[in-house]
Amino acid sequence: MTQFLPKGGVYLAPIAGYTDVGFRAVCSMCGADVTYTEMVSAKGLCYDSARTADLLYTTDGEKVKCVQLFGCEPDFIAKACGNPLLEKFDIVDINMGCPVPKIVKNGEGSALLLDADKAAAVVRAAKAVRDNVTVKMRLGWSDKSGAKDFALRMQDAGARAVAVHGRTRDMYYSGKADWDAIAEIVAALDIPVIANGDVTDIDSCNAIIRHTSAYGVMIGRGALGDPDIFSRIKGIEPMGRGEALRRHIEIMLAHHPAVKVCADIKKHIACYLKGIRGGKELKNIAFNASDITAILELASRI
Ligand SMILES: Cc1cc2nc3c(=O)[nH]c(=O)nc-3n(C[C@H](O)[C@H](O)[C@H](O)COP(=O)(O)O)c2cc1C
Repeated sequence: MTQFLPKGGVYLAPIAGYTDVGFRAVCSMCGADVTYTEMVSAKGLCYDSARTADLLYTTDGEKVKCVQLFGCEPDFIAKACGNPLLEKFDIVDINMGCPVPKIVKNGEGSALLLDADKAAAVVRAAKAVRDNVTVKMRLGWSDKSGAKDFALRMQDAGARAVAVHGRTRDMYYSGKADWDAIAEIVAALDIPVIANGDVTDIDSCNAIIRHTSAYGVMIGRGALGDPDIFSRIKGIEPMGRGEALRRHIEIMLAHHPAVKVCADIKKHIACYLKGIRGGKELKNIAFNASDITAILELASRI
């Protein structure tokens, strides 16, 4: 049965290049209530769904599964939403926050913040095919003053929830996330608003809930290399970084060829080893490893 976003839940944000099937599974085991794929091209799904399918594996352990699409053409969005590969996902989320030039130059990602009519048309196109459509937005391109109206437009277009990253496009990932602006959107909308930006531990998780009264909290960078951020917030037994890395790799191996896993896991390893004693030496071993067995052996040493 299709699930909706849980109230009071802690969500793993979509992170391009990182929220692969293994990482999502491990974060779910550690207590993440909702997990998002990285952003997936709606056009890519329409033209070459076999290649895009690689980003769409899921495991039963994921509690509420969200697939995030990017695109700005309603026809492609509608067609992508109808792709059978998306059926296993509970929610289709539309990316209105990606700041990178390669995306915004096509009018996608955070460029949609500059054109609420187009953004609303994208949501309506998705809604014509799927019921559970959500939006992940930033506060604006460079000016935050239109954030509340933009969010209201997405609600009117049929979005069932909005996740708000409290930065503008121009801020990229630096500067402080503006939780006041998120609180204003929470107060203005009738649909659930998920607060996102700068949650790195239990204290900041509690603080963002207090500050914004949001329906849920979304964590991005704070989870990289540390899926136990969810265990700590939920008060459950931590998995430990080495065990998390080992399970992460094993789940990846169940879905992808070992050479791909070996290449893709390296950027995660840099995160898993951050702040760990002897991490530099282990990182060198991992980066020079040519087969996954050596990396698995390394996981046992963390
Ligand atoms: C490397 C990287 C990749 C990201 N990829 C996506 C993405 O695919 N889709 C998306 O909506 N947001 C993406 N984000 C933004 C995060 O989902 C999140 O909104 C942002 O990092 C702020 O939350 P945080 O302070 O908890 O990290 C990405 C962020 C980073 C750092």
